Amino acid sequence: MKKAILLLGAAVFALSTLAGPAAAQSPIVIKFSHVVANDTPKGKGSLKFKELAEKYTNGKVKVEVYPNSSLFKDKEEIEALQLGSVQMLAPSTAKFAPLGVKEFEALDLPWLFKDEAQYTKIMKGEVGQWLFKKLEAKGVTGLAYWDNGFHMVSANRPLINPSDFQGLKIRISGSKIADQYFRNVGAIPQIMAFSEVYQALQTGVVDGCENTPSNYLTQKFHEVQKHITVANHAHLQYAVIVNTKFWNGLPPDIRKQLDKAMEDATDYTNSIAVKENEDAMAELKKSGKTTFHVLNDAQKKAWREAMAPTYKWAQGRVGKEVLDMLAKNLDIKMN
Ligand code: LMR
Repeated sequence: MKKAILLLGAAVFALSTLAGPAAAQSPIVIKFSHVVANDTPKGKGSLKFKELAEKYTNGKVKVEVYPNSSLFKDKEEIEALQLGSVQMLAPSTAKFAPLGVKEFEALDLPWLFKDEAQYTKIMKGEVGQWLFKKLEAKGVTGLAYWDNGFHMVSANRPLINPSDFQGLKIRISGSKIADQYFRNVGAIPQIMAFSEVYQALQTGVVDGCENTPSNYLTQKFHEVQKHITVANHAHLQYAVIVNTKFWNGLPPDIRKQLDKAMEDATDYTNSIAVKENEDAMAELKKSGKTTFHVLNDAQKKAWREAMAPTYKWAQGRVGKEVLDMLAKNLDIKMN
């Protein structure tokens, strides 16, 4: 009997010592939701952040990454962040209007960035910072910009001249600027969640779409689009955002380690984005499932001219301040 009591006591002690430190160490969980595949710049970036955040905080933080809209779709994930049911997202900046910050859509202007280097410079400079400031009033904190790349555009017929868009229903991700430039060429744009695009293309709910090579490949859009034009007419990038209340409520030492993890994951993501898209492009070509078209200078000029009215229209949508700032930093005229 005595022995049994002793054994019981030992068991209780063992349990409590186990439970004690384990309870004290129960990790802070960051749910990171996004809509693309793991095998993309953003997918890899979020996994890199998970790896580094868990390492730098010595396991005090656990990051759960939910890719491919497995937790929330586009619109729902923004609501979920504000409600606190997820803590971190990296939506395309084209999807920020529902948050009440339409100014991000200025980045969707057609033919705005000449190349990746120019895009990077702009986001690291005052435009990137100014846009993040706009988020503050919404209970959301911007941590970093993650690159993807330039958009291609596709349909089941070749898109070579602006008139080729006439009457085509084109899926867009959310930006009214994209809505406008597709209207400029006679298309009928339609906002749709990313997770629904493949089926919509397959069943003819929409005729075409725009996206980067890595998204075409991982979502198999090329299998349901006969023609892809490498237009580079607009740029796709993300803002990594967190719920401010959650972020500011973290112990300062943990937040510092997470800031460092985000900084390093951002460097990583932005360093692989171009190559990821080049590799995806090679795969797409190898698949032989679609025909690629590259615009010559005259065709490019015709697209630019056809889409130019979007610049003037944008003033009423995103306001003059951000447009002037972009014009100054890019050294261009905005009408
Ligand atoms: C889209 O909806 O087309 C993109 O924003 C998806 C993504 O996150 O790259």
